Amino acid sequence: MTIRNLDDLLAEGVSGRRVLVRADLNVPLDKQTGDITDDGRIRAVLPTLSALVQAGAKVVVCSHLGRPKGTPDPQFSLRPVAGRLGELLGAPVHFAEDTVGDSAQSTVAGLADGQVALLENLRFNKGETSKDEAERGAFADQLAALGDAYVDDAFGAVHRKHASVHDVPVRLPHVAGRLVLREVEVLSKLTGTPERPYVVVLGGSKVSDKLAVIEALLPTVDRLLIGGGMCFTFLKAQGHEVGTSLLEEEMVETCRNLLERSAGKIMLPVDVVAADAFAPDAAHDTVPADGIPSHRLGLDIGPETVAGFAAALSQAKTIFWNGPMGVFEMAAFANGTRGVAEAITKTDAFSVVGGGDSAAAVRALGLDESSFGHISTGGGASLEYLEGKTLPGIAALEN
Ligand code: 3PG
Ligand code: MG
Repeated sequence: MTIRNLDDLLAEGVSGRRVLVRADLNVPLDKQTGDITDDGRIRAVLPTLSALVQAGAKVVVCSHLGRPKGTPDPQFSLRPVAGRLGELLGAPVHFAEDTVGDSAQSTVAGLADGQVALLENLRFNKGETSKDEAERGAFADQLAALGDAYVDDAFGAVHRKHASVHDVPVRLPHVAGRLVLREVEVLSKLTGTPERPYVVVLGGSKVSDKLAVIEALLPTVDRLLIGGGMCFTFLKAQGHEVGTSLLEEEMVETCRNLLERSAGKIMLPVDVVAADAFAPDAAHDTVPADGIPSHRLGLDIGPETVAGFAAALSQAKTIFWNGPMGVFEMAAFANGTRGVAEAITKTDAFSVVGGGDSAAAVRALGLDESSFGHISTGGGASLEYLEGKTLPGIAALEN
């Protein structure tokens, strides 16, 4: 496979050219204030944008934010992101009030060499996510008209068959940005021949979201450690009662089957923190995994589990971690996630943190980002990459 990258485009010269950059600026916002709570994804795209600015391109950035339904919705406006991006770049970012309309066209036409514009949320337009090729194509035509070349640096969205990801590169000379290139380089090490032992830690709330990746990883990993909300469906499959914990009843049989086939590779919690309610101040205790009281729900893995997971991680030469171990946003239920994250930083393994949530957890818990080998900006995207799926955004760059 041959993917041209930003250096190839820069070598051609971009001064005065309009370069359309698809970024993933889908950052978490505070529900009350609308403030950006974690700007990791904005920072991640700076190397690409700065290089284009320095080379004198007219940089036109586009992104989605949240999941608006194909029509403008103020709570999903990218305007605050334009402000933050400008601060980080050290130069104002011109904000277009729409994505491909009059405002976008005049904003782009007004750019001087080395200036940056951000278009309003791609998903304010039905064509962006449409399953109808013609509808998507028509929107892609409008977007492509705003650039002379296209850079995909939206790793977090490469698994989406959306107009800005999949259809625009067909219409413009296209390259992978620095972030996409680095993400693919790192993740391909994991799907290639990772140094062993290779230990994967999976958390997050739903087994059904992770099933495909568990299936794909089982033959290749040495150890698979499971925590987070999804562990309760596995505990149930082991025959334990889980009280009022998160449970996907229809997945219990599947989990039982996975446990049978896993040849002892899967490690489950031996203790959990069980609480009266899903609340930061709920009464809670650490209980054995087979002793969750019927009126309580598990909100974190317990200390004995953390110690066991840490011991397995200390042996590892390669680690992939996706998904928090508990409700880390609440201090009382953050110890599992913190413990696992700290255990990863203490190893000399090559470690990859995948996923918006786990990456945000690393930063929210104040852990040193540089003690991880790589923190991916893609949650679903990194999982689908590890599953070996064809990613529409990568495929579109590959010719
Ligand atoms: C993400 O946050 O996982 C990416 O930005 C993709 O967003 P989506 O799941 O809404 O397509
Ligand atoms: Mg997502």
